[in-house]
Amino acid sequence: MKYPFEPFKIMMVEPIKILSEKERIEILKRYDENVLKIPGKYITIDLLTDSGVNALSVNQYAKSLLSDISFSGNESYEKFKKKIKEIFGKKHVFAVHQGRASEKILSELFNKGDTVISNTFFLTTKANFEYRGIKCIDLPHKENKNFYSEYPFKGDIDVDELKEILKRESEKIKAVIFTLTNNLAGGHPVSLENVKEVKEILKDKLIIFDACRIFENAYLYKIRTKSNKSVKEIVKEYSKLADIIYMSTKKDAISLIGGFITFDDDKLVENIKKKVLLYEGILDHGGITGKDFEIITQGFDEGLDEIYLRYRVEQVAYLGERLNKIGVPVMKPYGGHMLYIDTKKFVNLEPIEFSKILYIKGGIRAAPVGELVEMGKRNYLRIAIPRRMYTQSHLDYVVEIFEKIRKEFG
Ligand code: F0G
Repeated sequence: MKYPFEPFKIMMVEPIKILSEKERIEILKRYDENVLKIPGKYITIDLLTDSGVNALSVNQYAKSLLSDISFSGNESYEKFKKKIKEIFGKKHVFAVHQGRASEKILSELFNKGDTVISNTFFLTTKANFEYRGIKCIDLPHKENKNFYSEYPFKGDIDVDELKEILKRESEKIKAVIFTLTNNLAGGHPVSLENVKEVKEILKDKLIIFDACRIFENAYLYKIRTKSNKSVKEIVKEYSKLADIIYMSTKKDAISLIGGFITFDDDKLVENIKKKVLLYEGILDHGGITGKDFEIITQGFDEGLDEIYLRYRVEQVAYLGERLNKIGVPVMKPYGGHMLYIDTKKFVNLEPIEFSKILYIKGGIRAAPVGELVEMGKRNYLRIAIPRRMYTQSHLDYVVEIFEKIRKEFG
């Protein structure tokens, strides 16, 4: 047994339906040969996303029962706001219903023809910004193009490229968005040094964090730099460098829904307030229920717990390492929440074709991330791990299925 084992006891279970290969072939046919359309009850292990598919704790359930559902003067909202201020250290907090709602609101701070830079925009971020005619430029680190490179901060921005672009269109560049961790590029962390360097280069431009996996990012930074600081302290250090932070709480806050925008600038308040009221809900809700405020607030504490974070990133690395050992091409180093698999290299199948085989052989669901949000395509299959949902033996089963596929198709 590899330490750390799951740092929790299982108090409530959902049975997994285990079907035969023949039944799964039938189901896949019934749902247009598209794994995304298959109902969850026919899936054995669902590795499609880590977003909003987290197992809640007894404390999260207990607190949600005691939540305030008042329309106004909502105490659960006040607790949520207080917790965000405590973690990120900013003055203003606005709740929104999920990550892309923040992106829509923030995209309206810019104008048609403006340019915004990112280490890699997540699909919804790019879609929202491009919808408003804003030019989005991805500048992933050079090492990111090398699938097997062990460079520890493959989530970084390529600073040399950034300097080149600045020479060409300095006027047009209005902001940089750091995606922490860099999801589309492989779930890799961004280093504190990279954020500092980019901030130094861009001086007067806005620094925005898409912070939905900032706890995993900070933990990976701590481990890879052998820092003695706590993850909480590291998150604060990152936060100090940002003008605006937004987060989909469906990820590192171990919750089912939610999001927020936080910043210091008083001049932004009226603008953001107007947009939250227009698109999301009254300011005491922002589209989130009292129950979810309680779940998220408790989820922040649990998501920042270093014993949990160690288990979390080591669970992903455990699966990565076991797949790697049986000859599956897995992107290195292993991401905070996900693994990219080069299915073409593995068994000469496109990711989308491979996703069907993975379902038929093992009832496992995974897909290229582009498919997931139905915008664009990626060359790799993404295996995303829901938080606290699967045990080591579930992951061992995933490895067995990959082995079976290699034997049949390799
Ligand atoms: N930013 C990043 C980096 C994300 O990974 C996501 C969602 C969003 C923004 C949007 O947040 O879904 O709450 O509106 N990622 C999910 C995934 C869909 O599976 O990676 P949302």
